[in-house]
Amino acid sequence: MPKERPLWRGAAFRLCLLSAALLLCLQLGMRRSWCPEEKSREPAAARAPAPSRGAEQRPAGVAVAVAVAGGGRRRVTYVRSGRRGSAAPACCAPQPPDSRRRKTVRWHIELQPWASPTPSLNYEASRFLKYISTTQISCGHMNLNSLKGYSETAKKPWSICLDERFSLIHRIRNKQCRLYSLGLGNDDNQFELSMANSGCEVHRFDPSIKSAHIQEGRHLWYHRLSIDWRDPNPAIAAHKLHSNTKKLGTVMNEFGHQKIDVLKADVESAEWKILENLILEDVVEQIGQLVFEVHIHWPGFEVSGNDSTVVRYWYSLLRELELKDFKLFHTYKDLSKPQVFLKKEAFNASSCYTLSWVNTRWK
Ligand SMILES: *[C@@H]1O[C@H](CO)[C@@H](O)[C@H](O)[C@H]1NC(C)=O
Ligand SMILES: *[C@@H]1O[C@H](CO)[C@@H](O)[C@H](O)[C@H]1NC(C)=O
Repeated sequence: MPKERPLWRGAAFRLCLLSAALLLCLQLGMRRSWCPEEKSREPAAARAPAPSRGAEQRPAGVAVAVAVAGGGRRRVTYVRSGRRGSAAPACCAPQPPDSRRRKTVRWHIELQPWASPTPSLNYEASRFLKYISTTQISCGHMNLNSLKGYSETAKKPWSICLDERFSLIHRIRNKQCRLYSLGLGNDDNQFELSMANSGCEVHRFDPSIKSAHIQEGRHLWYHRLSIDWRDPNPAIAAHKLHSNTKKLGTVMNEFGHQKIDVLKADVESAEWKILENLILEDVVEQIGQLVFEVHIHWPGFEVSGNDSTVVRYWYSLLRELELKDFKLFHTYKDLSKPQVFLKKEAFNASSCYTLSWVNTRWK
């Protein structure tokens, strides 16, 4: 049957073509799977510090790849896209191993209504300052030393809630607790040491240390990493062998940590965007207590708008925490720092407050 050969050949040829096309598709798909995320597509120029904020000292360790983007771009809110992220193609969403992470993906936080019918800094400031000075839940035991029979000393900025109704104290007793501490190397680490001495696993993120990881004692680790509100652009990360800037959720995934009992952060004005990232990606639900130093002498990295807009944004962020059942149990106004609010001496405010929340939903 001489006629059958070409027919068979034709089919084989078509099959070949089909599988070649399939292979090509697969390859393209794979390549795309690590394509830059939305935010990193911004041109490098947009990342240069805006002149108005240029004078602000930028801590060497915090948010290395991050700077204040110019003009209107600063308002762009970044979030890693997940399944429901419509703006980024599905191929670009790195799938976190932890599926709980995917349930809500939002691009920006819900802004609260203005404090007054017409926006005014006076009203915004007084609402905000009142909010951060008022505890929402009382906590009877806030000092590790008091557990060992020492008397409670003067009001301390870094306070955790050790009341029996919250799990932290039980987890400390069972030596199951974990502290993440974000900050710069020159901070005093009394708090970290006392947590480590109580048997907690302490991870201190400090980009200034010499090696990638250092263990000190049985419970204290240093990691050469700084926590950011976005992962670095892969194009940049590929050139730099050691990219040491990561989102908290990414670090937790990499370390295989589902929970953090306490997150302490003293990140020199990066706290607002980091907090926003934790809320938007629902990472905050994996955290038992937050102890944050907040800075209000300027808007903070990548926070833009006029003064009333900035204060309303800060307030809205903290309200989102409250909605997630984080209750403020301790607030500390740092009188040793300049008494400055958005570059002005006003409202009897300090430039710096330390706030502690307990996640009342957390087990
Ligand atoms: C600040 O900006 C907002 C939004 O752009 C505007 O509605 C508001 O009137 C401004 N507030 C002041 C006090 O200038
Ligand atoms: C200003 O703040 C200090 C310290 O918090 C407080 O003692 C003082 O009463 C405040 N002054 C006014 C006028 O509110």
